[in-house]
Amino acid sequence: MSLRIPSHILSALIATGFVLSMSSTAAWSADIDLAKMKVEDGLPKSLTGKPGDAKKGRSAAINRKKGNCLACHAMPVPEQADHGDIGPDLDGVASRLTAAEIRLRIVDPKAVNEDTIMPSFYRTARFHRVQKKWQGKTIISAQEVEDITAYLLTLKDKN
Ligand code: HEC
Repeated sequence: MSLRIPSHILSALIATGFVLSMSSTAAWSADIDLAKMKVEDGLPKSLTGKPGDAKKGRSAAINRKKGNCLACHAMPVPEQADHGDIGPDLDGVASRLTAAEIRLRIVDPKAVNEDTIMPSFYRTARFHRVQKKWQGKTIISAQEVEDITAYLLTLKDKN
């Protein structure tokens, strides 16, 4: 893969530990049972058993220390200037993907596309050489996965 990542984005990703997610072997974090999961089904169940809060999800998605989704995706977030275009525009994503598909994309995009550069936001087990402060930790919490999923589900095509 010969994607070029602008250096300011790359250093932001390194700083937040995202680059760690580019290595791969198998196994998952926490309570997700990979053996029982089929990629085509996505992750239909809420990770917390509770519905997400779309408003909090929007904040977590655009927070540079949390989702940092804007590093790679355009989103309907006019108050922030720099939106990346490495990934698809997320405006309208709810018209393309289901909640289960969106949740899986956030938890572990490599389950969908093993070559993706999108970080796995809720998986710890298959990373190598993780700095101490990141060991056993996911980039965002289970509730933040739910909140961001709820937010993305509000992004339907307008026509
Ligand atoms: C380092 C870059 C990067 C970051 C950060 C990133 N993504 Fe992605 N994302 C991608 C790329 C590239 C794709 C395209 C599909 C692929 O690579 O498999 C993608 C695809 C997606 C898709 C599927 C879109 C579609 O229309 O099929 C969703 C949903 C998504 N990302 C959500 C998010 C969310 C939410 C965040 C923040 C929590 C995020 N991404 C952060 C790079 C990124």
